[in-house]
Amino acid sequence: MNFELSEEQKMIQQAARDYANRELILDVLERDANSIYPAKHVKALADLGFMGMMVDPKYDGSGMDTIAYVLAMEELSKVDASVSVIVSVNNSLVCYGIEAFGTEEQKEKYLKPLARGEMIGAFLLSEPEAGSDATSQHTSAEDKGDYYLVNGTKNWITNGNSASVYILIAQTHPELKHKGINALIVDRNSPGITLGPHEDKMGMRSSDTHSVMFTDVKVPKENRIGADGFGFKMAMMTLEGGRLGIASQALGIASGAYERALKYSKERRAFGTEIFHHQSVAFKLAEMYTRIECGRLLCFHAAWLKDNHQPFGVASAMAKYHCAETAMWVTTEAVQIHGGYGYVREYHVERLMREAKLTQIYEGTSEIQKLIISRDIFSQ
Ligand code: CAA
Repeated sequence: MNFELSEEQKMIQQAARDYANRELILDVLERDANSIYPAKHVKALADLGFMGMMVDPKYDGSGMDTIAYVLAMEELSKVDASVSVIVSVNNSLVCYGIEAFGTEEQKEKYLKPLARGEMIGAFLLSEPEAGSDATSQHTSAEDKGDYYLVNGTKNWITNGNSASVYILIAQTHPELKHKGINALIVDRNSPGITLGPHEDKMGMRSSDTHSVMFTDVKVPKENRIGADGFGFKMAMMTLEGGRLGIASQALGIASGAYERALKYSKERRAFGTEIFHHQSVAFKLAEMYTRIECGRLLCFHAAWLKDNHQPFGVASAMAKYHCAETAMWVTTEAVQIHGGYGYVREYHVERLMREAKLTQIYEGTSEIQKLIISRDIFSQ
C-alpha cells in the first residue's frame, strides 16, 4: 500500500490550490451573494485542463487519474463549491458517461468539446416526483423510428442554463419499468426545450440550477447512449463516479472550514490566551482533523478502486456519506469556533456551512448512500 502522491498528482493539487487561492477567492463572496455564474472561472479552469481531467487525451482530455481528480476537487471546494460542482458534473457525469458508454461519433461530436471545456454538460435524471426514487421516470422518450420524441420535466438541474449538452434520462418502454429507460444526448438548443426560473438556493449560489421542460423535443436516434433500455444502468454506473466527485467536494468544504477555524483559533484571544489553548476548542479541531482524514482515505480508496478497474460503487457511497456528514458537522463547528464572526459572510464559514448542506442531498442523499451500503453488507 503506497500513500505517497505522484509528482503529477502533487502538481495538479498545487495548480488547483493556486487557482482557488489566487482567483476564486477574489469574487466568491460577491458571486455567492448575487448568484452570479462564474463564467470566467469555468473558462480559466477549462484552459488549465480541469473540465475533462480524466478523459483520454485522444478525446482532448487531460488523461489524469481519479486520485488527481479528487485532489483537484478538494482544493477548489475549499474555496468555492459552486465552481467545483460545475467541474464535477462536467467531468464525472457528462464526460464520463459519454466516454464510457458512447459511440465514436458521440465522442467526436460531444466528448471532445466537453473535455476542452468549450461546451459544458448537465445530467438530467431528477424529476418533480422522481428524486431518490430514480426508477420512477415520467419523462417520456417515445420511439418514432429515426428519432425520440421527448416530453416531460426535469428538476434541480445543475448547469441547466449554462450547459450546451444534456444527458437526459427518459422512459421509452414504461411497461418494462427501469429496463425501458434510455439515456439520450440532447442539444440544449433543440426546439421545445424551456427552462424554469433560476433556483434561489441556500448555498452553491453561483452555480445555476433550473428545471428543464421538454415539449415534443426531437432527439436523433444516434444520440442514444448504449443499447435500447440501458439508460437506468448507465445512470447508476455514472453516478458512482459522480458521488466520488461530490465526496471530494464535501471533503474540500470540510477542510476549508477546518483550516479557517484553525487559523482563527491561533489568532483570537479569550480568557488570557489564544482560544486554541482551550481544550473545548483544541479537542474540536482534533476531531475535525481526524474525521476529515478518514474522509480523505475513503475518497482515495474509492478513486484507487476506480483507477484499477475494480467495483467502486459502495466505496464511493461510503466516501460520499462520510464526507457529506463530516462537511456538515465540521462547518457547523467552524462557525461555533468563530462565534459571532462565524455568522457573518466575511469569514466564509457560514457559506461553507450552507454549501455543506447540499452535499448531504444531491447525487443521492445520505440516506441513499446508506441504502447502497446496507444492501451491500446484507449481501455479504
Ligand atoms: N450499477 C449498475 N446497475 C445498477 C446500479 C449500479 N450502481 N445500481 C442499481 N443498478 C441496477 C440494478 O442492478 C437493477 O437492475 P436489474 O433489475 O437488471 O437487476 C436496477 O438498476 C434497479 O436497481 P434497484 O432494484 O437497486 O433499484 P431501487 O429503485 O431499489 O434503488 C437507487 C435504486 C440506488 C435507490 C437509485 O434509485 C438511486 O441511486 N437513487 C438516487 C438517485 C440520485 O442519486 N439522484 C441524483 C441526481 S443526479 C444529480 O444530482 C446531478 C446534479 O445535478 C448535481
